[in-house]
Amino acid sequence: MLAGWYEQSGPAKQVIQIGQMDQPQAGPGEVLVRLHASGINPSDYKKRGNSNTKIEFPRIVPHSDGAGRIAGLGAGVEGFKIGERVWVFNAQWKRAMGTAAQYIAVPAQLVRRLPAHVSFVEGACLGIPAMTGYRAVFAEGPVRGKTVYIPAATGRVGAYAVQFAKWGGARVIASVSSEEKAAMGRGLKADVVLNRSSENLIERVLAETDQRGVDHIVEIDLGGNMPISEKILAENGSICSYASAQSSIAHLNIGARRARNMSVRVIFVYLLSPSAIEDTCSGIIQALHDTAIHHRIAGVFPLSELAQAHETAEQQSGLGHMVIEID
Ligand SMILES: NC(=O)c1ccc[n+]([C@@H]2O[C@H](COP(=O)([O-])OP(=O)(O)OC[C@H]3O[C@@H](n4cnc5c(N)ncnc54)[C@H](OP(=O)(O)O)[C@@H]3O)[C@@H](O)[C@H]2O)c1
Repeated sequence: MLAGWYEQSGPAKQVIQIGQMDQPQAGPGEVLVRLHASGINPSDYKKRGNSNTKIEFPRIVPHSDGAGRIAGLGAGVEGFKIGERVWVFNAQWKRAMGTAAQYIAVPAQLVRRLPAHVSFVEGACLGIPAMTGYRAVFAEGPVRGKTVYIPAATGRVGAYAVQFAKWGGARVIASVSSEEKAAMGRGLKADVVLNRSSENLIERVLAETDQRGVDHIVEIDLGGNMPISEKILAENGSICSYASAQSSIAHLNIGARRARNMSVRVIFVYLLSPSAIEDTCSGIIQALHDTAIHHRIAGVFPLSELAQAHETAEQQSGLGHMVIEID
């Protein structure tokens, strides 16, 4: 089969190779998927680019997210049929073989059916970005009738979070870094879109909530944004963070006036519990069936241009998904 891989860490164009590999077979409890699309996420290019640590396997086929059709069923697998359209998540977590290849054999619990109206390219975005966005919105429970604040509203994760929060019945206050991205945020149906480069976020969020603050924050920068978060969070509010983009250390002032009885959760999509995975995947599928979700595809590359695709994904921020299409 055709695949992309690297055998040492480093810049994409120096280390990524494309070639033929043996096709995997589905072992017990696994399904074989003929992939048609593979999504690129920051963890894929950070891992590949990180020259400070030894790579986990002699050869790594990158990417955790993908979509395609079931091509084989291992012993004991029930509930899937050959030819069925599926999406795959967490595929390269602690495994050498990811989705940047024509075939992958993965545990059946990392595979879900792809609704007919969702393309393979879109399906390859449902793993890390959509699952993280969904979980970060709903980790503390339903959001119907609540106000949710989402900085990074145009990020891959953030844009899904905005849409899931709206689907879940929340009022969404988003923030972005430019006027161009504010237009994107409005396109995602956020109720209020603030520009963090030109507006006082604390004043604006409090004004938008009658000084009460927001109930829940979906946080990309736990450390960097805490001075804002602790002032805009309503009593009994919650923060669910999926990254700490600027600062890995978060200082929490528990005396801050509004942050009473707050909860802070930090999530890592690869380590969600089986019940959280089930809840997240079924919620995503329901939202897809409700046609509530728009996928922001920023670029589609053939597998032969995997290195270029990684480079492009690394260089852009907040514009959408880079996806590999696989013939
Ligand atoms: N914990 C997990 O399981 C998990 C899962 C997925 C992703 N992540 C991590 O989450 C991060 C984002 O991933 P992504 O795929 O969504 O990236 P992305 O598509 O590149 O988006 C990043 C977004 O963050 C915004 N941003 C950056 N710093 C910000 C700040 N201090 N305050 C508000 N917004 C800020 C950017 O806005 P501008 O470009 O306008 O500045 C951009 O919209 C990455 O570090 C990734 O590794 C973690």
